[in-house]
Amino acid sequence: MQTVVEVRQGAGGSYPVLCGAGTAAALRGLWRPAWRQAAVVGDSNTAGRFGEPLAAALEPLVGRVPVLRFPAGERHKTRAVKLRLEDALLEAGLDRSACLVAVGGGVVLDLVGFVAATFMRGVPHVNVATTLLAQIDAAIGGKTGVNTPRGKNLIGAFHAPAAVLLDREALASLPAREMRNGLAEGVKHAAVADADLFDRLERWAASGGGLLPEPLLVRCVQIKAEIVGGDERDLGRRQTLNFGHTVGHAIERATRHRVPHGAAVAAGMLVEGAAARELCGFPEPDLGRLERLLRRLRLPVRPQCSFEAAAPYLHSDKKNVAGELRCALPLALGRMDPGDGSFVRAVQPRLLQRAWESRT
Ligand SMILES: NC(=O)c1ccc[n+]([C@@H]2O[C@H](COP(=O)([O-])OP(=O)(O)OC[C@H]3O[C@@H](n4cnc5c(N)ncnc54)[C@H](O)[C@@H]3O)[C@@H](O)[C@H]2O)c1
Repeated sequence: MQTVVEVRQGAGGSYPVLCGAGTAAALRGLWRPAWRQAAVVGDSNTAGRFGEPLAAALEPLVGRVPVLRFPAGERHKTRAVKLRLEDALLEAGLDRSACLVAVGGGVVLDLVGFVAATFMRGVPHVNVATTLLAQIDAAIGGKTGVNTPRGKNLIGAFHAPAAVLLDREALASLPAREMRNGLAEGVKHAAVADADLFDRLERWAASGGGLLPEPLLVRCVQIKAEIVGGDERDLGRRQTLNFGHTVGHAIERATRHRVPHGAAVAAGMLVEGAAARELCGFPEPDLGRLERLLRRLRLPVRPQCSFEAAAPYLHSDKKNVAGELRCALPLALGRMDPGDGSFVRAVQPRLLQRAWESRT
């Protein structure tokens, strides 16, 4: 494995994202003497397949390594599962010298990162990302948390990993639907930050797609790292990563998560893109290219519910301030509207409704 990027942190530190084959060897290689205990945590799909070999690789360094698991799926990213994991760690005798290894998609990494943030008032963790979405997005940036019945990610903490490991080969077993979810975030990374990557994604999709080529995956990782490295606490440019997400999260909630995250974000980018066309001159041809690329990748290009069904959830979005709806909007492919420096803009509900209805 080789380091593809160092993610900068506020206090002058950084952590590496390593990419390639040989996750177990890389994990052993970066293990620190101060980490005298370990636990590996995954979900019902990842703990056995990817987690057990990592635990075996660590045992010569730290003795017995428990492998903990919880049922796969977004609906298990909860406070209740966090409590169960914490009790299991305490029962296994882990203390503040432990390092947790999170193995899985964004659900596992968000949840285990949050456990690490509070266990013994904070222990280190390493993210081993096994979905495309986690590799190019969730594993990097230190946002951790759980959902509540009132909304996604409402309880959590900023707690950066000590390192991130990505093996593209792990994606071989990923269901096609999950691959598409990740691709939606890849398209978003390009749309917010890199017009050249957008061109390359178009060419790759036009030639038949398949497993995302390593150089494109690495560029997506670099974009996420560059953006969060300059804005760890989500106060400025990091907001651009929310393009498509104000609408996308509302669609997810209005459809009770029957529409997966990436599919909702794909439709969300087109609705918010249509709003940007009116509000900040996002060019019509760019909106057309965004739609064609998403269609080619077999992602939805129409909102999966009505504006009325989504409206209550739009109004409870975390980005809203004083009841005003806010979205991160593009000026052109690869360039986002900085607004007043917050990288979000107030959007009148009526304008968003018009944009929504223009996409149905
Ligand atoms: N922290 C962040 O910055 C950030 C960013 C984006 C998304 N997220 C969060 O990420 C979550 C979504 O992540 P996700 O899309 O990875 O979902 P996920 O973690 O639920 O994984 C999707 C499915 O794929 C399975 N899986 C994982 N790896 C596999 C593999 N290699 N082979 C076969 N099956 C595999 C999982 O068990 C699960 O069933 C959401 O909760 C979202 O809020 C966090």
